Amino acid sequence: MNERDSEQVAQMLAERGHTLITHEDDADVVLLNTCSVRDLAEQKALGKMGMLGRLSHSRPVVYGFLGCMAQSRGASLLKDVPHLDLVVGTQKFHRVADYVDQALAKKRLEAARLDDVRFTVVDTEEESGSQGTIMDHLTDRHQVSAFVSIMQGCNMHCTFCIVPYTRGHERSRSIPEVVDEVRRLAERGVKEVTLLGQIVNLYGRHEFEKVDGKSPFVQLLEAVHEVPGIERIRFTSPHPIGFRKDLVESFSYLSKLVEHIHLPLQSGSNRILKAMHRTYSAEKFVTLVDQIRSVTPRIAITTDIIVGFPGETEDDYWQTRSLVDRVGFDNAFVFKYSKRRDTPAAEMDNQVPEPIKEERNHDLLALVNEWAKRRSDKFIGQAVEILCEGPSKTNAARLMGRSRGNKIVVFEGDEKYIGRLVDIRISRSTGFTLFGEVAAGN
Ligand code: 5AD
Repeated sequence: MNERDSEQVAQMLAERGHTLITHEDDADVVLLNTCSVRDLAEQKALGKMGMLGRLSHSRPVVYGFLGCMAQSRGASLLKDVPHLDLVVGTQKFHRVADYVDQALAKKRLEAARLDDVRFTVVDTEEESGSQGTIMDHLTDRHQVSAFVSIMQGCNMHCTFCIVPYTRGHERSRSIPEVVDEVRRLAERGVKEVTLLGQIVNLYGRHEFEKVDGKSPFVQLLEAVHEVPGIERIRFTSPHPIGFRKDLVESFSYLSKLVEHIHLPLQSGSNRILKAMHRTYSAEKFVTLVDQIRSVTPRIAITTDIIVGFPGETEDDYWQTRSLVDRVGFDNAFVFKYSKRRDTPAAEMDNQVPEPIKEERNHDLLALVNEWAKRRSDKFIGQAVEILCEGPSKTNAARLMGRSRGNKIVVFEGDEKYIGRLVDIRISRSTGFTLFGEVAAGN
């Protein structure tokens, strides 16, 4: 989602004649789009901005923080980071280009000693309709896969999560707006779209009606499915709450919907789920996974899990562990609980010591990796359809793509495969990456 927001800002700046460059030392404008989900992300962004300010330049440079940390810390960032010029929140990405141009003009006047008033901007207001402003894509890229933001914000108020405070309440774009964006992408050669939202399956629940028992999200999936040229549809992330029969069944008749769901579990202990304000039980999660698998047996399921949430006992942790073993996820992100300001969990008095979080994190990752390997090894000897994205990041002499189940597949082949669906016969796996060669007939 942050990447998508950054792309929007980059495109708006490009339209005004700015050029995106790869090295910050040469930049006249440095914008850091920030994540606040865990403290580490904020500390990294602050460290990086501090480091950038220590570089000496012979020309004026504009510095800005954008996104979640800008939203939650606001003007205090100007005090903490003296060289900072812009602080622009999550509902104001579309204003960044204006602010950059103003700041650049002022700085140049300052440098020429024609003006000595420091110009700073803090814009963290809410703006109705801002969910519809993340709609442009960089046009100088030949991407085959693109992200499409369908909604902003979240009303779920999980007790660990800062998102409702940084991204506001749920607001959805309309189906025609989203379809129009997808159509424009398809016309530029994009074959795969990932629909993005904090909780995508709750898309449109405040704005649009159910039709024939189908939720607005399923209606959106059906509409995107009609766009010619689009071959694959992904979405991330759904919530187990509101993942109803209509969505489970849509996998059976929407052929472009890939066989992968990222379904955040967070914990396998009902006591902890309750304290997290995740309003499902571990049993309900397992039942949902079983339902999904009965409709789409080959589906890959990945998840997010937090270890060391306040009050998590050894027994709670073992319940998570055994649920992970029961479901056998294709992959999982495991996070150590991180206190976030103004969230209820940060105030809970039974915080778990860091070494215990560390131990559980390590232990759970080992189990996750075991399952990932087991799930990946099943593909050895099979031909898997991939969408070739381009050269492999670790070895540019090879190509990479993703299977419908979102496994990374690396193979040797001609550039002609880039942007195409290709069948690859898998010969080995490392757990997260599959390796193979182009199958006969491609
Ligand atoms: N501490 C650790 N992990 C968190 N996440 C969200 N908030 C926190 C927190 N305070 C994780 C959740 C979520 C993912 C995006 O980040 O697992 O699904």
